[in-house]
Amino acid sequence: MITRRMLIAAAGLAASALAGAPTFAQETVKVGLIVPMTGPFASTGRQVEAGARTYMAMHGDTVAGKKIELILRDDAGTADQTRRIAQELVVNDGVSVLAGFGLTPLALAVAPVIGQAKIPAIITSAATSSITEQSDYYVRSSFTLPQAAVPVATWATENDIKRVVTLVSDYGPGIDAETWFTKEFTAKGGEIVEAVRVPLQNPDFAPYLQRVRDADPDAIFVFLPSGVGSLFMKQFADRGLADAGIKLIATGDVTDDDILNDMGKPALGAITGQHYSTAHDSPENKAYVEAYKAAYPDMRPNFMSVGGYDAMHLVYAALEKTGGDATGDALIEAMKGLSWTSPRGPVSIDPETREIIQNIYMREVKEVDGELYNVEFATYEAVKDPAKTSDQ
Ligand code: PHB
Repeated sequence: MITRRMLIAAAGLAASALAGAPTFAQETVKVGLIVPMTGPFASTGRQVEAGARTYMAMHGDTVAGKKIELILRDDAGTADQTRRIAQELVVNDGVSVLAGFGLTPLALAVAPVIGQAKIPAIITSAATSSITEQSDYYVRSSFTLPQAAVPVATWATENDIKRVVTLVSDYGPGIDAETWFTKEFTAKGGEIVEAVRVPLQNPDFAPYLQRVRDADPDAIFVFLPSGVGSLFMKQFADRGLADAGIKLIATGDVTDDDILNDMGKPALGAITGQHYSTAHDSPENKAYVEAYKAAYPDMRPNFMSVGGYDAMHLVYAALEKTGGDATGDALIEAMKGLSWTSPRGPVSIDPETREIIQNIYMREVKEVDGELYNVEFATYEAVKDPAKTSDQ
């Protein structure tokens, strides 16, 4: 039976087809942000949220005629929850994009959801290289560990560091950091004296650090996920490694701007490589830090926050490119090849891999005006994820 409602619907469809009106007439585009806001990795969630909200404060909440609505959800750092929340956001809230994912297992948990819903998932935080190979709908606004670790290894070989102990968290990004640091460092003539892997949860570094001290290397190369660095730094100092002349080199996760000030003197002189420092000297970063601090006076932006900021940029720029079409396939296609100037410097999305191409800066922890900062002193420009370039 043909009902009155069906006739009205058919007439509406015909009218919009005649007018050439797009079928994506939805006026609000919802972005579901899933991050740990509680639990041991809550600082990541807090930073990503602050970065994303700062972007919206600076750029408004309307783009290509659409109102952008950010829906924040806490997964407490548990993969089961990340997947369940992602499903709810797709089915109940009708989000057009997912973003966030504070740790690698949390990012991996949503692969089936985004594959089925055919919507993009922007990785603001997780940094194991292989994540983006698990679905064509992943795109990354954070970084990869190979991308940060290789420049640190190059720098080390050029600065008289010959014998190194590596110490990493024993899961995806740690293995990536160890593998790619070692590959570059040994290819350029360096020697790995020992490779130590510590548990991700509740690590106690003291026994490992004693072993490192006994091995007496020129340097220790470290990767630990954001938030864990202060405990490491304290034990590094307590065990007398710095006094023994063992240099600390790391990816920037260890001297995270969020906690760097609280680390105090033991952090001074640490050399790290990464894509963002609060102290990055550019007009874009000055504007970002100012807007961020206006809204969050008790925090300072770290690299997780720019992952959130640039995730929102990806959504806005993609919508502009599609003229407001928020269907998943249109958005992910539009994100490929985008380039812009982030607070971290010039960046682009590699259209082949959906990875972010960005500068990696070498930095030294220094005291400036009574506060500790990662002060940049050298730049490796436009670094691609080395784990995905064909010559590796
Ligand atoms: C990750 O789990 O992929 C991860 C988490 C924190 C970091 C880097 C990588 O700082």
